[in-house]
Amino acid sequence: MRFEIIALLAVAATTSAQSVVGTAYGYGAGATGGGDAAPVTPASNEELEQYLADDTKRVILLNREFDFTGKTASGAGCDKTTCSANSGGGQYYLGDLSCGGSDMTRVSSITYDAAGITPLKVGSNKSILGVGGKGVIKGKGLSIAKGASNVIIQGVEFTTINPGIVWGGDALDMQGGNTKIWVDHCKFSLVGRMFVVSHYDGAEATLSNNEFDGVTDTSATCNGNHYWTMMMIGKTDKFTLDKNYFHHVSGRAPKLGQDGVNSYFHAVNNLFEEMKGHAFDAYTGVRALVEGNAFVAVNQPSTEHAAGINTFVSKGGNACSSVFGRACLENSVDSSSGKLSSGYSSGFIAQLGKIDVPKPIEASKVAAYVKANAGPANLGASSSPAPAATATTAAAATPAPAAPIGSGFAAGTAKLYAQCGGQGFNGPARCEAPATCVKMNEWYSQCINSSSKFRRALGHY
Ligand SMILES: *[C@@H]1O[C@H](CO)[C@@H](O)[C@H](O)[C@H]1NC(C)=O
Ligand SMILES: *[C@@H]1O[C@H](CO)[C@@H](O)[C@H](O)[C@H]1NC(C)=O
Repeated sequence: MRFEIIALLAVAATTSAQSVVGTAYGYGAGATGGGDAAPVTPASNEELEQYLADDTKRVILLNREFDFTGKTASGAGCDKTTCSANSGGGQYYLGDLSCGGSDMTRVSSITYDAAGITPLKVGSNKSILGVGGKGVIKGKGLSIAKGASNVIIQGVEFTTINPGIVWGGDALDMQGGNTKIWVDHCKFSLVGRMFVVSHYDGAEATLSNNEFDGVTDTSATCNGNHYWTMMMIGKTDKFTLDKNYFHHVSGRAPKLGQDGVNSYFHAVNNLFEEMKGHAFDAYTGVRALVEGNAFVAVNQPSTEHAAGINTFVSKGGNACSSVFGRACLENSVDSSSGKLSSGYSSGFIAQLGKIDVPKPIEASKVAAYVKANAGPANLGASSSPAPAATATTAAAATPAPAAPIGSGFAAGTAKLYAQCGGQGFNGPARCEAPATCVKMNEWYSQCINSSSKFRRALGHY
């Protein structure tokens, strides 16, 4: 009898940790990962590698550290004279790729950890779940295979991937054409190159509640802050960055777009703190809505280049009302931080569809909330609701009255900016004058002002 009770308790204790917490939203919406597949717990590094690589639907539990480090290799490369890995707390650059500048000195042999440069391949339909804050992958990153989709990575820590060596490995890369990717409550630290990078073909993903910890002794900017934070320069990238904690990073946090791309970003409620460098860097082709973020002791909330990108918008004002049913949130930049550029071409915001985050909060509440909720150890902490942002316009979401059972659409009219149609919707399909119901996409129609001038401004006509 006693044994049975112990066994039952053990089952109960692990069951709650065996499934995804919450639901994917934003540009990663629809990710279900391994769904209801029976969870597997890899017994070795090799087994982890096999479980990740194919397209079999799988729930993979990481309940301990998987350490890939220990086997070294060496190769030629270079060091930077003004910020030396050899003597100044900088990073070495492995290979020829970065050796062109006049500031670079050749180094004949750089010793690195062999595992870092070959990441673990990840196929479609995977939930990769850290259990109880104990799931750690050390020495190797994950690479979501070209075309792979539907991957959830939650509660996992990535660390110690050749931190002293640029081109020594990324923590998470997306090879392109990746959709329904959700990376939540993970932690990234001590990486040689990028914490997260999407490559040239683009990916659609939500990164939420992650901690990007840039504290390092080997910094490409020689100031104890990691430079290579996040790069999303793919042709068709669509990323939601929500409630992440960026600290002690000095660059590309994140770098968005490049000439010729056509990409969208929604960065909301992130905390950027103690940064001896820049947060946002932006290039032509990117459309970024940056709202409700908090910058605390950040040298450059955005770069000079970002300041020249009209569609890098941090003061959206009422442009959000038509899509989110609320005004765009103000960012907060403290007095010890530099300037956040504002942009002015906010027309694209009307095209963002239903990608809003479930619980946007005001920037003044971001620091406390994010510190209490980000990272693997806090997974589950956010089940208590975030303090909701107070509505600042008349456009505040007014939920349509419930449909009477059996009828197609509810009687009555929906208010300006409320939903009035779309798959699965059964509220009122008529709008209160002067608004009319306009189809945004298959899933969402919305009451907007019937004045044609206003419609043109929304870009739907
Ligand atoms: C992923 O799972 C979905 C739903 O079960 C399936 O339709 C799809 O083919 C799977 N993807 C791959 C690449 O196997
Ligand atoms: C609708 O648009 C017209 C013209 O732009 C404006 O004067 C009016 O105030 C708008 N009405 C509402 C309810 O937003």
